[in-house]
Amino acid sequence: MCGIVGYVGPQQAAPVLVEGLTRLEYRGYDSAGIAVLNPRSKANPSRVVRAQGRVRELEAALPARLAGTTGIGHTRWATHGEPSERNAHPHTSGDGRVHVVHNGIIDNFATLRSRLSEEGVELTSDTDTEVVAHLVARELETGSSLEDAVLAAVGQIVGTYALAVLDVQAPGRVVVARNGSPLLLGVGDGEMFVASDPAAIVRHTSQVVLLDDGDFASVTADGFHSFTAGEKKTARAAVTLDLTVEELELGGHDHFMHKEIHEQPESVERMLTGRLDDRFGTAKLAGLNLEPRDLRRFERVKVLGCGSAYYVGQLGASMIEDLARIPADAEPASEFRYRNPIIEPSTLYVVVSQSGETADTLFAVREVQRKGGTVVGLVNAVGSSIAREVDGGIYLHAGPEVAVASTKALTHMSIGFALLALALGRVHDLSFADGQRIIAGLRALPAQIAEILAGEEALAAAAEELATAPSLFFVGRVRGYPVAREGAQKFKEITYRHAEAYPTSELKHGPLALISPELPSVAIIPEDDLVERNITAAQEIRARGGAVVAITHPGVELGDAATSRIEVPRNEVELDPILLTIPTQLLGYHAAVALGEDVDRPRNLAKSVTVE
Ligand code: F6R
Repeated sequence: MCGIVGYVGPQQAAPVLVEGLTRLEYRGYDSAGIAVLNPRSKANPSRVVRAQGRVRELEAALPARLAGTTGIGHTRWATHGEPSERNAHPHTSGDGRVHVVHNGIIDNFATLRSRLSEEGVELTSDTDTEVVAHLVARELETGSSLEDAVLAAVGQIVGTYALAVLDVQAPGRVVVARNGSPLLLGVGDGEMFVASDPAAIVRHTSQVVLLDDGDFASVTADGFHSFTAGEKKTARAAVTLDLTVEELELGGHDHFMHKEIHEQPESVERMLTGRLDDRFGTAKLAGLNLEPRDLRRFERVKVLGCGSAYYVGQLGASMIEDLARIPADAEPASEFRYRNPIIEPSTLYVVVSQSGETADTLFAVREVQRKGGTVVGLVNAVGSSIAREVDGGIYLHAGPEVAVASTKALTHMSIGFALLALALGRVHDLSFADGQRIIAGLRALPAQIAEILAGEEALAAAAEELATAPSLFFVGRVRGYPVAREGAQKFKEITYRHAEAYPTSELKHGPLALISPELPSVAIIPEDDLVERNITAAQEIRARGGAVVAITHPGVELGDAATSRIEVPRNEVELDPILLTIPTQLLGYHAAVALGEDVDRPRNLAKSVTVE
């Protein structure tokens, strides 16, 4: 949720930290801060600058000269304590010796805070993080090294953390610890970086060391030394990162969300490369680590994800039922683990996540594994915690997604489910001919997505009208229902307008009472066996004065059931929802632009939700 960056080397640390924080801002953006060590200055051996608001606020608060070549920085998404300068990181011990940045949540912070207060420590923020600075400082007072002090302090903490710690008396060193929140080291030439997300350091190096839970590392300009509570030295090797600076730039678009929507034709093409097997009419998914005979033994599929990933999971479950004819359903991962779920060996558990760091989804993986289940992942972020912990999976290859509202990653998720459904189908009941039919449908997607995007102007006009309504419905049936849910989600999270999704069939069971000229509906009306019923429902909305924007197929006769229509090209019926979702991305986007909202950084949200 929050972002961490750290630097040790020959460069001035402050600009490196600020640039890294700017790239991490999508992670959290209510306050930011940096701490820089400068052993040459007797008066100011360390400087901390913090500001409420965006990284640009921090930049404005920085003094003209902020010398020092070791530092840590943070962007915050508040969990404990309001967004304010005093609650911004880094946090500092009372003696000014220790600076700490932290992602995650310290569950026993209240106990630690009252213990420290009783011992006379003055706490200056409302955060859970501050206790760490005091705990480390106390250990240092006893003569411990910074590494031992962090180890001992962390031993008293219950919770999740990625921590980066500075000791004013040990300049040229950053000590880090990871448990449940992502953290990596960047290996440069005579310089080292620390980051919670590769985006922060991509400009400097592509060599990264992905730390595991329980890992500590002491980082200096020449390299690092990793250890755990039980082992004095552990071997952690660097891997090469597949990420370029260009992928993190706007590239001529006004917003990352717009850029990411428009990347889809190309990114989908890339995702499908090498994965379609014409000879057997199936999908090639080596990363699943499941042979056809393993796939055959599964009698049920349970999909787990959060938010939009859960909605795509619903769509994925219906693709699996359609193509493989085995029972499949989706459940929010955030609920799953708290209800003591029954884990069946004959069920394939599928988790789905863009970031690969969503805590609720990660804990669901662990719950399944603890109880002996097989869990595979549909994950975008390569090397992320979920990607590393699952038994196998399908990388989504959507490329980095910076806008908080997910678009292209969701499209890639639904295509990932289509591939999985195809592979499962072909070892169950799906015919070769049907397999080939789905493959042809998948191949058609990039050009069809491009065709929908070419109609952006009309979508923008429809969005501007919808933006004037205080509240709206998104309705769809069966395969169209997850499309409606995702459409409503996108709309509400970036426009702050109330948007609610219903199965079209449920309207007459209650929500129809709300229909009025003030409440328009977006109706998903594909040309399928439910088209007549969907048109009837749209007419029922129209009869009560509600406007209907229909997302439909060419040739569907809507008559006066819709006030405006948006057409998407037809594909195979199982794959149509992928295309029907694309206009909802642009509706949300253009409505938010029309309302003047901060599209890429919606209030109260963060890109990856690494707290429970
Ligand atoms: C909506 C959105 C969220 C995420 C959800 C899961 O636009 O971005 O609802 O889909 O937080 O995130 P991941 O996919 O990273 O697990």
